[in-house]
Amino acid sequence: MARAARRNAQTNVLPKAEAYRHPEAESPLRPDVGTQSQFKKKKPPVTYRYDSSLSPALSWDGQNPARELGEWLVGLIEKAAALPPPHAFDKPQEFKYGNGQIIATVRSLKDAVDQLKRLGKPFLDWAGKAERLSFDVPTLPLFVHERLSTKGIIETLTGHRKKERQVQLTMFDLFGDPQRPVIDQVLKAYEYRDKWVNRMVLGDSLVVMNSLLHYEGLGGQVQMIYMDPPYGVKFGSNFQPFVRKREVTHNDDEDMTREPEMVKAYRDTWELGLHSYLTYLRDRLLLCRELLHPSGSVFVQISDENLHHVREVMDEVLGTENFCGLIAFRTTGGQSTSLLSTSTDFLLWYAKDKDLARSKFHNPTTPKRGGADDGSGQYTFVEPPDGSQAPRPMTKEELDGSQPIPEGWRILAHDTLYSQGAPSDPSETLFEWGGQTFRCPPNTHWKPGVKTGGMARLATANRLMLVGNTLRYKRYVNDFPVYLIDNVWNDTAISGFARKKEYVVETSTKIVERCILMTTDPGDLILDPTCGSGTTAYVAEQWGRRWITVDTSRVPLALARQRLLTATFPYYQLKDESRGPAGGFVYIRKQNKKGEEVGGIVPHITLKSIANNEPPDEEVLVDKPEEDNKITRVSGHFCVEATIPTPVDWEGDGVEDSGAVKPEEHGSFLDRTLEVLRKSPVLQIGGGKTVSFKNVRPPAKTLSLSAEAVVANGDGKSPHPGPLPEGEGKKGATLPEGEGSKAVALVFGPENGAISEKLVYEAAREAHAKSYSHLYVIGFAIQPNARNLVEACEAAVGIPATYVQATPDLMMGDLLKNMRSSQIFSVCGLPEVKIHKAKPTDKGEPLMYQVELLGLDVFDPVTMETDHRAGDDVPAWFLDADYNGLCFHVSQAFFPRTSAWDNLKKALKGTYEESVWDHLAGTTSAPFEAGESGQVAVKVIDDRGNELLVVQNLMNFDEQDR
Ligand SMILES: C[S@@+](CC[C@H](N)C(=O)[O-])C[C@H]1O[C@@H](n2cnc3c(N)ncnc32)[C@H](O)[C@@H]1O
Repeated sequence: MARAARRNAQTNVLPKAEAYRHPEAESPLRPDVGTQSQFKKKKPPVTYRYDSSLSPALSWDGQNPARELGEWLVGLIEKAAALPPPHAFDKPQEFKYGNGQIIATVRSLKDAVDQLKRLGKPFLDWAGKAERLSFDVPTLPLFVHERLSTKGIIETLTGHRKKERQVQLTMFDLFGDPQRPVIDQVLKAYEYRDKWVNRMVLGDSLVVMNSLLHYEGLGGQVQMIYMDPPYGVKFGSNFQPFVRKREVTHNDDEDMTREPEMVKAYRDTWELGLHSYLTYLRDRLLLCRELLHPSGSVFVQISDENLHHVREVMDEVLGTENFCGLIAFRTTGGQSTSLLSTSTDFLLWYAKDKDLARSKFHNPTTPKRGGADDGSGQYTFVEPPDGSQAPRPMTKEELDGSQPIPEGWRILAHDTLYSQGAPSDPSETLFEWGGQTFRCPPNTHWKPGVKTGGMARLATANRLMLVGNTLRYKRYVNDFPVYLIDNVWNDTAISGFARKKEYVVETSTKIVERCILMTTDPGDLILDPTCGSGTTAYVAEQWGRRWITVDTSRVPLALARQRLLTATFPYYQLKDESRGPAGGFVYIRKQNKKGEEVGGIVPHITLKSIANNEPPDEEVLVDKPEEDNKITRVSGHFCVEATIPTPVDWEGDGVEDSGAVKPEEHGSFLDRTLEVLRKSPVLQIGGGKTVSFKNVRPPAKTLSLSAEAVVANGDGKSPHPGPLPEGEGKKGATLPEGEGSKAVALVFGPENGAISEKLVYEAAREAHAKSYSHLYVIGFAIQPNARNLVEACEAAVGIPATYVQATPDLMMGDLLKNMRSSQIFSVCGLPEVKIHKAKPTDKGEPLMYQVELLGLDVFDPVTMETDHRAGDDVPAWFLDADYNGLCFHVSQAFFPRTSAWDNLKKALKGTYEESVWDHLAGTTSAPFEAGESGQVAVKVIDDRGNELLVVQNLMNFDEQDR
């Protein structure tokens, strides 16, 4: 693939976009979201336990078994001491407590001693810690919602120009879609292996990591985890609720996120402030540890407020012995406080096993240039190229850069030739050079050796110089043209951002890049359970690593998706293109005209190598692979997945529930919704109209319905103004609540999932049979086929239905203090799209279509108005030109009125007509041919990251259009 691209470049064919693939990596088949209702492979929740070595919170208070444990350990020590070395037991000894829970396991004498010692150490305790020695996590499948690839988008855009369609591309080529038949997805999900694609997952990190472990068996396979959790301060301002609004005010009600997953995580997580925060981190770190490869590393980004606590938690979970470093990195210019201002944040770096992690470690480096400002400031001497004159110090002008170093001159530092300790042979202290005899100071000797010829070899190599009366060794910049970076990173301040910060808490790429290059190799797998704007995924993509990134919130995922989709990267040459990045990048040694080492392989000449006449070592600078700048690299395939639970029937009563909600929780969710609906019975409808419910109550006996109510609008004139279809009132049952009131049925979707078609269908049938006049389907999200059924409900089932979007305020309970009741439920408009036939550009060209986004009705919960948004005012919209009903393949991606595609446009200058880029920044798609399915889907992303989907049949359109 890349070879072909280079060939093209050499023959002056216009630049093409290429992406890395990972042909050697696989992952288990994950089902498409469209197969959700058929998916039956449910799994029980998993219980995670902290063993006692992870929980020094055991105290001598009678409630915890520390005393018993201590005595048991002492007994084991006696027993093990009597065993022959290495004092190991035949089988592990277990200490059980309470209801039989194993809280300690001992394999040997050393094990027992270590655990006993640990019991006596001080520890960090917090509310809820000791009570929580185990916790349950629901085991949910991850469904693939979207497949994206920049190359796929570009290829489909060229696709409409038939002549240029040279190769028939497969669905995997285009979208990374292995195209498993539905039957395989349903029956063989998580059994078959598919080719690897990178992954963006919507969901709580704990649930997603558990799914990776227990549905996919990914334990021990992640090479590096980068975790940038909220810092555990100012709990109200950690989440950015709008795609295009970066400022978030602490505790500002309007800025509170209103998404269900987010709110749930928020509610579960922060109720006890710092205490819950530490529990949150501890739980997630425990799952991180399970996912890490034996040589893997985890980095946690944190500020100084909670650094000390987080380190203790990491010590507990990953082991003090696996602490690899505390990195201070510079952030902004400095935030002033009343005392010293702060300008650093921190990374805590732990390995799963520090000894094994060494094999993966690549010490980061920074170029050594010489001069005053460079690292140590020692390289301040220069020497002519032929060594004809003794080195001289740089002039003031050379040091401050106002005058260049003479061409070809070499920059150097000088270093000592002495080593501590008097030699046994006194002649080893003397050395003759330039007609002078030099003697080492007392109690030292010449480091390179005199009798061995080491000093003489240095002299021959012109490596000696005089500083005053002292003989010194000349160390040239080029001997080893880099410095090894330590744990203070000064070059990471915000100015290090190559782009405008899009997310309120975005990390500089430089920081994540350094961690990735330091602890992973190309092709390795990286996980970020706190995706945000996708910095880790972006950097991993840049460096040919595989990635999975997770966030509870749709806003950051929307930003991350756009970032990845529109990014361009350097093309690092691959050693073996058939293996992809896993085969490694190409590094070579090379010098520029000035003779400076500028390649990815550099010499490491040392005093020892010259003195011993050894060939110098060479080192690889992992951040300097060879680039092929004729190729524009774009992101490889990736997919968007979510933990939206399977609509399975937990209760066995024939009604689908959300997989995440246990029956008792489901019940409480219904109760809560009923309660809120009673208090806030107003539905917003387009055009400022409202409808009110009265007498909201559970139906006396029901199979599928959640509630019944009486509907009356504000003026009492018409029970169903706005979108409710004509004639709806005619056949409705009338409750005895008075004139103009009609009995309507209500059904609530799941707490953590999307409303399914089955749910709508069954509710509609029952509502119709019971002569309700209307069905209101209330939920946080709805599957496209369910949405279609709502629209067609009157024709299909005989009762009109309306989809009512609930805001997640519903889940907030007490958290959202000033909940404005009338903002909770809104009748949500669908995106308005129009399909056009494109004018044929060529005779014989097949029929082409174009989709135009006319607009979107967005209900604003703050102003309580529903505005019609013009199509070019949405943050993003996507087209699937051949929607198969199972998964959304992004064949065109539009970021109206933005310059999102500009980088790529520049890089691919001349390859595409200008009109292609105009389409991608506008509201009308590029022309496309009808696909096999005969239908298209349009997904609009609104300001809150919500996704609104419409599906249109091209065949129908054809008919109507004529
Ligand atoms: C500090 S930000 C990460 C920013 C990121 N490093 C970047 O460069 O954009 C933390 C992110 O973690 C997400 N988050 C918080 N709790 C989470 C959870 N339980 N599961 C998944 N994501 C979570 C938040 O939505 C937020 O986007």
